[in-house]
Amino acid sequence: MEKRKLTVEDFQKMKKINEPVAAVVLYENWMARQAEKAKIDWILVGDSVNMAIYGEKSTATNPPTMDCMLKHADAVRRGAPDTFIIGDMPEGSYGCSLNDMARGVYNAKDFIYEAHCDAIKLEGGIKMASQVEAIVKNDVLVMGHIGLTPQTIPEDKWGTVYGETAKEAIALLADAKALEKAGAFAILLEKVAEECAGIITQELKIPVFSIGAGRYCDGQLLLSCDILGSFDLFKIKFVKRYITTDLLRYIVDINHADMHIGFSELSKMCFDSYKHNVKYLHFPEEKHVYKMKPGEFEKLQFYVNSI
Ligand code: KIV
Repeated sequence: MEKRKLTVEDFQKMKKINEPVAAVVLYENWMARQAEKAKIDWILVGDSVNMAIYGEKSTATNPPTMDCMLKHADAVRRGAPDTFIIGDMPEGSYGCSLNDMARGVYNAKDFIYEAHCDAIKLEGGIKMASQVEAIVKNDVLVMGHIGLTPQTIPEDKWGTVYGETAKEAIALLADAKALEKAGAFAILLEKVAEECAGIITQELKIPVFSIGAGRYCDGQLLLSCDILGSFDLFKIKFVKRYITTDLLRYIVDINHADMHIGFSELSKMCFDSYKHNVKYLHFPEEKHVYKMKPGEFEKLQFYVNSI
């Protein structure tokens, strides 16, 4: 049966029935083909392309250009014509001044009309709400991104966990609500303590996805280069690599007559396994999550019950 492309309505239904969403970040046509074969729920063409593929140090100081993002997004779209694809707005392509907002609308539309993406993602909370609203008013679907926002947080602060205290969690909740009010169709939380992420997921009507934000969100996102272990410069606690000795043994067992296997098939197996893990709540595990500081969740709950 042909795979029908999922829609925002599907993601909302999945939130309602607690079906976890499994998503990946990727940048290349061949990899998009494997993700589509594995029926990954959505794909982000991330600005991390500049680190993962082009060897730059950060997405803040060395962001990819819009041209670079559009080229990758177009390649991914051709590889995964039936998958919901989100284009990541690079640093400098949007903002909160009037000029930056106009540029943001223009660039967001380019992702839709030139690269045939279904939506865009941008970083920032309350400060970015007007930009989100302006893009949504131009009929472009927007995913918000809060918590660790690498475009504006210096590299030496990437170790910070967000929402560890009630005060930080309340600020993140306010950011998330402002984005929802501005018309975002979903929010991505990066590197957030899982109890805080759980409260945000519960308080929002729109789906809330996690990259390093624990087990209580509406779905998970991982970078394909982390799933496959091709990014080897550093390894983050919330990442899981899927090329394991068990997988390799399984491949040997089923292929004893012909041992040749391509990296594309191996990648598809990893995406299958990641998706299965997410759907059956086997990923993330305890070792992949961050926690709020002792006593802080109770304070957060007290606040949420009082609003
Ligand atoms: O570009 C990217 O890969 C991202 C993820 C870290 C969410 O924005």
